[in-house]
Amino acid sequence: MSARSRDLPRRSCLSTPGATEKFLAKAPTVAADMTFLDLEDSVAPLEKVAARAKVVDAIKNLTWDERVLCVRINAWDTEWTYGDVIEVVGNAGERLDEVMLPKVQSAAEVVALDLLLTQVEKNCGLPVGHVGIEAQIETTRGLINVEEICAASPRLETIIFGPADFAASMEMPVLTGGVAIPEYPGDHFHYVFSKILMAGRANGLQVIDGPYLYVRNLDGLREFAQRTRVLGYDGKWALTPDQAAVLNEVYSPTQEQFDRAFDILDAYARATEEDRKGAVMFGDEMIDEASRKMATKFVTRGERAGLTRSSG
Ligand code: GLV
Ligand code: MG
Repeated sequence: MSARSRDLPRRSCLSTPGATEKFLAKAPTVAADMTFLDLEDSVAPLEKVAARAKVVDAIKNLTWDERVLCVRINAWDTEWTYGDVIEVVGNAGERLDEVMLPKVQSAAEVVALDLLLTQVEKNCGLPVGHVGIEAQIETTRGLINVEEICAASPRLETIIFGPADFAASMEMPVLTGGVAIPEYPGDHFHYVFSKILMAGRANGLQVIDGPYLYVRNLDGLREFAQRTRVLGYDGKWALTPDQAAVLNEVYSPTQEQFDRAFDILDAYARATEEDRKGAVMFGDEMIDEASRKMATKFVTRGERAGLTRSSG
């Protein structure tokens, strides 16, 4: 895994088409936690090979800040995967934190990418394990195998849900992925969201939701993103700078939650260390060791988002 990016925030993950210089040039100016330069579905087949050099140039010559920087390569069922890795990691691997593997169907696909990355790293003088992997679950076969996929390599940093391809793989009668289906009584992706989240967390991965395709409907995005935010996801893809701004807010704890988490930790430390009690009242609620764990998660997430505790 990439030691640098493993724990960096990924509230907003900006998708940037790798064949278009205009979008590549703008990407570092967008306030997103993570940016991925895409060689996959936003690049036309006839541009796939030429896009590699544009992506390499963008990684090396644009000024990137501390954000997580990733390239989405093409899936193993195409002819482009190995060339994407050799050209991009071989020429711009130093600043690259991760590669994203789309349409992952089995653990073997992650292992194959891990092995190829190791060879490329050795050949270009990078430490083995320098480049991490993000895996996208967006087929029925991938979802069935998600538990093995999440455990397939120490390079894995995140597991991502791809709702558009997944809807196609399921043969859902929809023409837009990643949005609510009003005719469905409930959340049609609830099972999928939960299954991916559990598999990711069981293996210490960050868990990311994919794109919301109505790019002009920011209220719709805010509402839809709450579904995965409330379950515990770390972030979601952004297709525009405006979407990134909404997601940075949705996937951060509020200042009130952040301060309350610190208050719980203080009260629990006093109870256990001074009074030798494992369960005490905190206002109207009983807190114990499990409350400490929940509060710690809020603190970690808030700190990742740049929050600091209010004084007083
Ligand atoms: C993203 O790649 C998706 O298919 O939703
Ligand atoms: Mg996809």
